[in-house]
Amino acid sequence: MIVQRVVLNSRPGKNGHPVAENFRVEEVNLPDCVNEGQVQVRTLYLCVDPYMRCRMNEDTSSDYITPWQLSQVVDDAGVGIIEESKHTNFMKGDFVTSFYWPWQTKVILDGNILKKVDPQLVNGHLSYFLGATGMPGLTSLIGVQEKGHITAGSNQTTAVSGAAGACGCLAGQTGHLLGCSRVVGICGTPEKCLFLTSELGFDAAINYKEGNVAEQLHKLCPAGVDVYFDNVGGDISDTVISQMNQNSHIILCGQISQYNKDVPYAPPLPPAIEAIQKERNITRERFLVLNYKDKFESGILQLSQWFKEGKLKIKETMINGLENMGAAFQSMMTGGNIGKQIVCILGDTSL
Ligand SMILES: NC(=O)c1ccc[n+]([C@@H]2O[C@H](COP(=O)([O-])OP(=O)(O)OC[C@H]3O[C@@H](n4cnc5c(N)ncnc54)[C@H](OP(=O)(O)O)[C@@H]3O)[C@@H](O)[C@H]2O)c1
Repeated sequence: MIVQRVVLNSRPGKNGHPVAENFRVEEVNLPDCVNEGQVQVRTLYLCVDPYMRCRMNEDTSSDYITPWQLSQVVDDAGVGIIEESKHTNFMKGDFVTSFYWPWQTKVILDGNILKKVDPQLVNGHLSYFLGATGMPGLTSLIGVQEKGHITAGSNQTTAVSGAAGACGCLAGQTGHLLGCSRVVGICGTPEKCLFLTSELGFDAAINYKEGNVAEQLHKLCPAGVDVYFDNVGGDISDTVISQMNQNSHIILCGQISQYNKDVPYAPPLPPAIEAIQKERNITRERFLVLNYKDKFESGILQLSQWFKEGKLKIKETMINGLENMGAAFQSMMTGGNIGKQIVCILGDTSL
């Protein structure tokens, strides 16, 4: 059977901006036989994630991800349906997910990398397993729980950068749900700002591309910032850190403003900002969701419960077709998404 897949076509270079043409679609033959321990799955939804930018370099400069080779099939999280199973955990018709899903319309996988998902947890929205009840949801929830030091009722203010993206939307809402009295988002367009305040319950939002961010932040966080969920790093984070309170906390989630630069992760703070961080005893520990696998099961249940109770609003930006994976990645890296950027490969869940 002929299937389509996406491979790495070229590298943007450590200091380059990724483009859709860095990826290439090609056809391959799917082998006929599924071996013991394997399953054949049809891909339903794929997604794109910022960390993939590092995998486009010859060397990821990271201890937990490997680079893609040129012409190697690209992988990231995916959701699909089992068409044939020779693995004891799975039956034909099961819905499954994995953080390591090849960008391919149908694929034979080792069953051990898959996890069965229950569509009822997300009222049938299977793509949510790539967003709100997938890695971004877990990152936001566990990040805030583990590194945010939120105490309900203590009048804390949370600032979130990259606030209208997959993690940011969920982190801001989680801040409120866990007891912060004020949540302020920072993002890149007026439409995103409006979405955060009118739909997700953020108390205020700042468009970092307009006006003076420091002045706006000062006005919107008059008592300073107690918790900072940092998705972007760079100038935005330097501005936020300058307005953080004594003994406050940074959740060092990501630094997307630095991913097209040849700098180590996490990039060191400029000396003046580092001095503020030290003087004010602001914590800034590296956070990696994959280090908290023991909390995933309970985290998914919590996120699903909040969603079903109407407490957690979920937003996706959906485009169609495997041929658009590269465009989806480029768009997400340049702010084209609100909520999780998803690519629908085949929404039809019937066998
Ligand atoms: N620590 C972990 O375990 C973990 C897990 C998942 C993700 N992450 C990190 O979390 C962050 C967000 O990931 P996500 O999947 O939720 O992506 P996302 O926020 O859905 O998408 C990326 C967003 O980043 C913003 N952006 C791009 N370039 C920027 C720049 N130079 N300055 C400021 N903002 C910029 C864009 O929005 P605007 O329109 O607002 O610019 C874009 O929509 C990333 O840094 C990622 O690496 C970490």
